[in-house]
Amino acid sequence: MTSTAASPRPALLAARPGPWWRDAVTYQVYIRSFADGDGDGMGDIAGIRSRLGYLAELGVDAVWINPWYPSPQADAGYDVADYRDIEPAFGTLADAEALIEQAHGLGLRVLLDIVPNHTSDEHPWFVEALASGPGSPARGRYLFRPGKGPDGALPPNDWKAVFGGPAWRRVTEPDGRPGEWYLHLFDPKQPDLNWDDPAVRAEFLDILRFWFDRGADGFRIDVAHGLVKDPTLPDLGLDEEHLLGQPDRDDHPHWDLPGVHEIYREWRALADTYDPPKLYVAEAWVSSPERLAAYLRPDELHTAFDFDFVRAGWDAAELRATATASLAAHDKVGAPVMWVLSNHDIARHVSRLGRPHAERSADPLHGHNGVTDVELGRRRARAALLLELALPGGVYLYQGEELGLEEVEDLPDELLQDPTWFRSGGAERGRDGCRVPLPWASSGPSLGFGSAQGWLPQPASWSGLSVEAQDGEPASMLSLYREALRLRRDLPSLGAGTGADVRWLDLGDDVLAFGREPGFGCVVNTGSTPVPLPAGTVLLSSGPLDLTPAAAGSGGRPELPADTAVWVARG
Ligand code: NOJ
Repeated sequence: MTSTAASPRPALLAARPGPWWRDAVTYQVYIRSFADGDGDGMGDIAGIRSRLGYLAELGVDAVWINPWYPSPQADAGYDVADYRDIEPAFGTLADAEALIEQAHGLGLRVLLDIVPNHTSDEHPWFVEALASGPGSPARGRYLFRPGKGPDGALPPNDWKAVFGGPAWRRVTEPDGRPGEWYLHLFDPKQPDLNWDDPAVRAEFLDILRFWFDRGADGFRIDVAHGLVKDPTLPDLGLDEEHLLGQPDRDDHPHWDLPGVHEIYREWRALADTYDPPKLYVAEAWVSSPERLAAYLRPDELHTAFDFDFVRAGWDAAELRATATASLAAHDKVGAPVMWVLSNHDIARHVSRLGRPHAERSADPLHGHNGVTDVELGRRRARAALLLELALPGGVYLYQGEELGLEEVEDLPDELLQDPTWFRSGGAERGRDGCRVPLPWASSGPSLGFGSAQGWLPQPASWSGLSVEAQDGEPASMLSLYREALRLRRDLPSLGAGTGADVRWLDLGDDVLAFGREPGFGCVVNTGSTPVPLPAGTVLLSSGPLDLTPAAAGSGGRPELPADTAVWVARG
């Protein structure tokens, strides 16, 4: 049973200072898979609206909704054809406005997802670029180049696309001849924009304004580190690109170039014209915490996902080193860390944490068919939640992690939709395994996701993981999330603050432990044997604790079992 041995003492309670986002818990709604309101098997705005009460009750502060714009869905909405409207399968612009209003009424902020690195190839700008021919202003908004070799038949350089294959595609010119090539760092249906073109910059400021004026509280920025490219387009000499890969050098020609910072200074200035100011969170896969923090200087973005826990093993020393480095780098620029364990691009952490370390860190992005101990992964996921919620900063939760969902590794090949699967010629299964529709009910054609089968099938075992099955069950993952979020709101030591407020404690090699004032402690046992429980009142435990004298360890103290975390109030 999850232990909530005592209510927090009054000394621990206080109002939370500072802007709302510094310690906010944001829930990622992957719209295709959250809830299906119209029974077409695809999630939608009506579905989200029907479940906003659940999110408010869960205790999160904000939601981030993955792209919901009109899109051919070649990359699940990250191929945008119109940034100022809603994909018909998801609803209408009026539905979107109603959602924002409803969320605000429940005290939830709404973050949207902006995709500035590329558009869809069905965006009117790209259609115009193809029709207009070489040298036209329409082509200037993208990265068109002549090919190399005789007749320009070879791509302009050796860059590879993240989803597989070359990053260039040749077009047929309006006169019917083979012509220029365009850059696509992702799928060929996602042509990269040219951020040196003032028209591109102006357009995106206007798109941001469009949604801010409709009540959006902020934006998650897709591939924030990719917008600017070295204009000389030098060869890279690499044979592949990884979505979760860090650039392997500081002078990479298309990731994390200094020019991106100028763009975000303009975006920040726009956000600050609103009252209250709007918020940004960057998705930026960069080579170090310091490079990430550079995006968070006071006149740039407010926050960025910290993916270092995703890459770290279940190891106290590694987790501590990761957290310390992130906190230190963020503290230098006065920004809070945004902790992340899962998202729609990464194998679910229940599965990652249930795998042998070497296998997990070799490929955190995709599912494995190797050995995964899902129950072990769930135990560790419970402990990891208490760890991230106890650190200073904000937390992003990925839908379904509050249910303890695992990666679905046995989806039939013919149902896979991730472009990675197609572009790698079936060598990589891609990210569909973490995008399976949520189970809301214990029975029904899609376990309450909608009235029909969902776009991907759920494992039968998810009936027992559904919201309905877990609701009111004290030992369930859902109850742990609700309780942890409730306590976190009440305890000023949690969330708010900086790395300087964390006092790391040495309680043994397998123990990650820290204190925060006033009187709070978090202890995580990542080892395989119990360790003594520190003194204090247990506020919350990630797993069963036996505090009876008969269960005391050799030192006469109660014990913290393996793969378990506790929050304690000292003395
Ligand atoms: C990162 C997004 O999270 C991912 O889902 C998408 O495929 C790429 N960016 C390209 O937009």
